[in-house]
Formats: sequence, C-alpha cells, structure tokens
Amino acid sequence: MNDTVHITVTVNGEQRELDAAPHHTLLDVVRDDIHLTGTKECCVVGECGACTVLVDGRPMNSCLMLAVEVDGSEILTVEGLTDPDGRLSALQEAFLTTGAAQCGFCIPGQLVSAHALMAAHPEPTLDQIQEALAGNLCRCAGYEQMAEAVFMAGKEGDR
Ligand code: FES
Repeated sequence: MNDTVHITVTVNGEQRELDAAPHHTLLDVVRDDIHLTGTKECCVVGECGACTVLVDGRPMNSCLMLAVEVDGSEILTVEGLTDPDGRLSALQEAFLTTGAAQCGFCIPGQLVSAHALMAAHPEPTLDQIQEALAGNLCRCAGYEQMAEAVFMAGKEGDR
C-alpha cells in the first residue's frame, strides 16, 4: 500500500517534488523534508505564529496545514527573504538595527508576516503593523522594536 501522496510545491522559487505522508503538516515538510529549519515549531496548535510561512502570498500557520493541501502552491519561508548571495533584505537589516531580534525564536515568523504586510502596504502604518504581527507571539516582548523595524523598512523600501 502506498502511504504517501506525491505533491509539487514551489518553495522560495524552487520547484520541489515530494512524497508526503497524508498526516504530515506543511511545517513537517518544510523542516524535515526540505531542511529549511528557519521556520520554527513551537505550540503546533496555531497559537504562536512561530511556524508562519507564506502560502501563495498569504501568511499561514504551517503547523495547521497538511502538506497535501498545498500541492501546487508557492511557499515562501524566511530563507526566501535573503538573497542567494546571503545579503539580508532591508526588513531583516531593520530587525537587527532596532534590536528586534532578541532570543530570535519567533523572528522567522515575524519576518514572514511583516514581509506579507509590506507586499500589500509598502509603507505600513503602526496600526497596520500591529494588526499584521498580532498572530506572532514574542516571549522577549520585543514588539516595539519589531514595529519600529517594519516602519523603518517601509521608509527605506524592503525588496
Ligand atoms: Fe504553529 Fe505555534 S507552531 S502556530
């Protein structure tokens, strides 16, 4: 009996052919099969946002999505924000500048959510930033520095 499902996804611009177990989540596939470990596993019940990736441009909790649900989709993980040559995006640089990245655990999810916001609103307001990041929890309580970073990147122009 074949207990996997063949799926095709584009992850950070690269097409991937995968055989996923029906019960495996998108988070499982991203971390364990594709080995992109920037996306973090934490609560696995959709509460913390550490596992946020973009699915067809929308921020999603990858712990709550089955891998088979994303067949044919475009996935962006935090690794996809960085240039192939390792150069950080303006948004990532701004997180460093403001000290938003403290313990760092929630930062990949925060960055991905902020990136999605800036794709829709290149110069977001504070209200828009707070709303966009509301689903991403931070135990270090670096919310002010994160909002400042997104605001700064908006002024400088993220890419
Ligand atoms: Fe997915 Fe917390 S690990 S929301």
